[in-house]
Amino acid sequence: MAFIELKNINKRYKGNPKNSVSDFSLQIEEGEFIAFVGPSGCGKSTTLRMIAGFEDITGGELYIDGQKMNEVKPGDRGIAMVFQNYALYPHMSVEKNISYGLKNMKVPAKTIQEKTDWAIDILGLEEYRKRKPKNLSGGQRQRVALGRAIVKDSKLFLMDEPLSNLDAKLRVSMRNEISQLHKKLKNTTIYVTHDQVEAMTMADRIVLMKDGVIQQVGKPMELYEHPDNVFVAGFIGSPQMNFFFVDVKDGTLAFRDGMTYRLTEAQKEKLAGRDQVILGIRGEDIKFSELYTSQYPENIMTAQITNTEVMGNENNLYFDLAGQTTTARVDKYEICHEGDERHFVFVPEKMHFFDAATEQAIR
Ligand SMILES: Nc1ncnc2c1ncn2[C@@H]1O[C@H](COP(=O)(O)OP(=O)(O)O)[C@@H](O)[C@H]1O
Ligand SMILES: [Mg+2]
Repeated sequence: MAFIELKNINKRYKGNPKNSVSDFSLQIEEGEFIAFVGPSGCGKSTTLRMIAGFEDITGGELYIDGQKMNEVKPGDRGIAMVFQNYALYPHMSVEKNISYGLKNMKVPAKTIQEKTDWAIDILGLEEYRKRKPKNLSGGQRQRVALGRAIVKDSKLFLMDEPLSNLDAKLRVSMRNEISQLHKKLKNTTIYVTHDQVEAMTMADRIVLMKDGVIQQVGKPMELYEHPDNVFVAGFIGSPQMNFFFVDVKDGTLAFRDGMTYRLTEAQKEKLAGRDQVILGIRGEDIKFSELYTSQYPENIMTAQITNTEVMGNENNLYFDLAGQTTTARVDKYEICHEGDERHFVFVPEKMHFFDAATEQAIR
């Protein structure tokens, strides 16, 4: 049995006509860093809170370390939790905030001291040890909140949007710190976020949810390269993948404005027997350079650039394709201006196809 098993978990809140979580099944191995990601309201926190024991499980079974947990009290589940609103005790120093939970648990004083020192060291809080929370930066406060969780020796960490209150720069550095911490401690971690970048950069595996239902579970690059459906394809990656409804006819794709694209043999095989599909292409797989256009001369298309975003490390180019705003991501040295006409091609192996009705990936 996996370290954590969720079997067909359902949640229906009283007074809510809809399930907040439906038929959620997942196995988590010991030491894994799992991200629950999805738009606001998709059921991430509810699932996490059922694992923690703060919400009743309406249906299904939850096992932690082989033991059924449905009826076990939160305090007896061996978990530590970090929330978005980590209320530190304002009148207590960093050190006291970190050790307070252990005192409540009647841990011997010597052990408390050792664990607190260890946490302060590992989180780089030594010089702030005696400070009160009001005299700390947001990132330092967040580290204290992490400290309170890690001293508890829990085999399972649950984190619910712990970085959402921090500014963008701090979020990036804290996300690295949490990743590093996980490498050191190796506690099984479930990390809830609405931010696909956090999920992509931190998780061993991502669980992507929508409307209480798991859409896909996999390694970050599996979701990025092989999304199971249009929702996953659109949620992971920025700028968003470009999508087009196209007709499949005589070995070509016909766009809405009449433009056609000649399919490769492999693509023809994949799309055999279909007359309409959704085509998906990521911005970085739209290529403007001669290197690519010369490779696929039969499929050169023309873009009239309507806007450019200079990001520093790369540029986003906007243009109209078959009546639809399309975004390409190009190298920072590929300078383009509004009004420029440029030839481009799609990288055939990077084109995604989805069923026009079900929106499921065509493999
Ligand atoms: N106490 C509650 N009573 C009724 N509905 C709730 C309650 N808490 C959350 N919900 C609903 O359950 C769904 C999932 O919420 P939540 O798990 O908080 O989403 P997320 O954390 O992904 O943003 C939402 O539609 C929300 O409105
Ligand atoms: Mg939430």
